[in-house]
Amino acid sequence: MKKKLVKLMAMAVASVMSIAVLAGCGGSKGGDTLVMGTNAAFPPFEFTTSEGLVGEFDGIDIAIANNIAASMGKTLTVEDMEFDGLIASVKTGKVDLVVAGMTATEERAQSVDFSDTYFVASQVMLVAPENEDITKAEDLKNDKNVGVVLGYTGDSIVTDTLGVAEEKITRANRAIDIVQDVKNGKLDAVVVDSATGKALAEKNGLKVVEDPTVFDTEEYAIAVKKGNTELLKQINKVLADMKESGEIDALAEKYN
Ligand code: ARG
Repeated sequence: MKKKLVKLMAMAVASVMSIAVLAGCGGSKGGDTLVMGTNAAFPPFEFTTSEGLVGEFDGIDIAIANNIAASMGKTLTVEDMEFDGLIASVKTGKVDLVVAGMTATEERAQSVDFSDTYFVASQVMLVAPENEDITKAEDLKNDKNVGVVLGYTGDSIVTDTLGVAEEKITRANRAIDIVQDVKNGKLDAVVVDSATGKALAEKNGLKVVEDPTVFDTEEYAIAVKKGNTELLKQINKVLADMKESGEIDALAEKYN
């Protein structure tokens, strides 16, 4: 009898423990942690550094998400993953929100809910400093080897809007990898978001070519799981406060 009771109690303890372990592992933890999904290869919005704002992570988006977490009395956890997987990770609840310099596109808005926008960007072309034959977006169709990052808006603009031939397009996981290829001549141009493009161009001695007639403005927003209105409201409140106080502008200045 006694033995049975002990066994039962042990089973109860074990099951409580396994629930705790399950609740604590990976993904959206609820409780006092806010889990942000991002792709930390996109300076000045998110990048890694030896002493970041949250662990090794730093940048405009990390600072914004940190404020959102703080406003809810939570601590921020950063889940770094491939850009292409971000939408799925917020859809399935692996992360609570995606803050990744993500352009709020109609297509993506079918899978997630977007916050108010917090930054305006556009695509730019990065070319070698001595390059004279790429002065406008249409020039990319002129037998040029063009690099884009897989799943970025730049990818769909080069592929669909401009219609650059598929065999002339190189798709990478990170802009930094193909920037090297512009330097060493394997690629004629890389198309990427303006703020990131300017930062990468400066670091790597490349030239930035703009073409506002083809590259429309894009607006960044934060994504949550469809229907998560409570979190969305909180995000919008923090964004509004940060815009009004000039904090977003100050962050853009600081990290640029
Ligand atoms: N704005 C572009 C897009 O939404 C690129 C974003 C890349 N962000 C990142 N964290 N790697 O597709």
